[in-house]
Amino acid sequence: MTKQFTDPTLCSSDITPESSYLNRRQFMKSAVAGSSALLAAQPLVSKASDFVGVDTFMSAEESGWALQAPDVLTPFTDVSGYNNFYEFGMDKSDPARYASAMTLDPWSIRISSDGGETADIQFEDLLRAMDLQERIYRLRCVEAWSMVIPWNGFPLAELLRWLNPEGSYRFVQFRTRYTRSEMRGTRSFSSVIDWPYQEALRMDEAMNALSFIAVGLYGKSLPAQNGAPLRLVVPWKYGFKSIKSIASIHFTNRQPQTSWQSIAPHEYGFYANVNPEVDHPRWSQRYERRLPSSLFSPNRIPTRIFNGYGEYVADLYKDLDLRQYY
Ligand code: MTE
Repeated sequence: MTKQFTDPTLCSSDITPESSYLNRRQFMKSAVAGSSALLAAQPLVSKASDFVGVDTFMSAEESGWALQAPDVLTPFTDVSGYNNFYEFGMDKSDPARYASAMTLDPWSIRISSDGGETADIQFEDLLRAMDLQERIYRLRCVEAWSMVIPWNGFPLAELLRWLNPEGSYRFVQFRTRYTRSEMRGTRSFSSVIDWPYQEALRMDEAMNALSFIAVGLYGKSLPAQNGAPLRLVVPWKYGFKSIKSIASIHFTNRQPQTSWQSIAPHEYGFYANVNPEVDHPRWSQRYERRLPSSLFSPNRIPTRIFNGYGEYVADLYKDLDLRQYY
């Protein structure tokens, strides 16, 4: 059964001409194209059959949400041309120019836990086991620009249930693939990150219905610069939480260090919930620049608490001082 969630204030009928959606079978074909020999499921992967079913890619249009949006989809050219992916350079155009150097096939994901379990999962096995759906989400970068992106993928909760680690853990940690030879940004002297890029969520955040793993956008496989073949999307948090090109997932009870928190703990917290009331020490978070924007048409809009998703996530933080735990 397909579960469909799209914020009813967003709708894809407002799509720009760039948004040529492929049909669902084409999408699935291209998403699993080039798959190498399948490896047998590893011990952590015990419930694949519960989730098998691929003919489930459904667009927001098909799902029947009505258009009523101040939010318009950001054109594909901006979504795939204006990026942060420091592994490939710090300029917004660097990822589109250089991320294609990353070898995407084969792609395996190392699954591990504090308890000592380890397994390697092939991306195409994972894709076969998940039902794909579309989610149209706002993405708000901590740098105060934002986009509206139609992602294709599956809920993170479904992936975590499928992985089914032994025992229960309080956090889930993600790491991006780190291949120095392919990632020119990691070889740069100006690089500030201690590679690989790392992120983490509290388990209840990870299991929230909005937390999503994207494998595509605009109905196509994820462009390398957007974090192919799979990346996290956590729409109520600043974009840096949405880690790209995931190569490992670790279940742990200790709150993990995250890349930006390690670099500048006073500027970037573990939680990173979008909050217009809590400014970055060097700039205000009250407004954002909705892309595409220009000098003459800045497209400045007020930022909303939890990026407008409070209805779905505010409860997670009811006992937390959001100023202290930024
Ligand atoms: N993931 C990795 N591995 N490396 C990065 O530099 N940048 C983050 C996040 N994920 C980043 C990353 C930041 S700051 C943002 S705003 C989003 O990716 C941008 O995603 P997009 O380029 O798809 O819009």
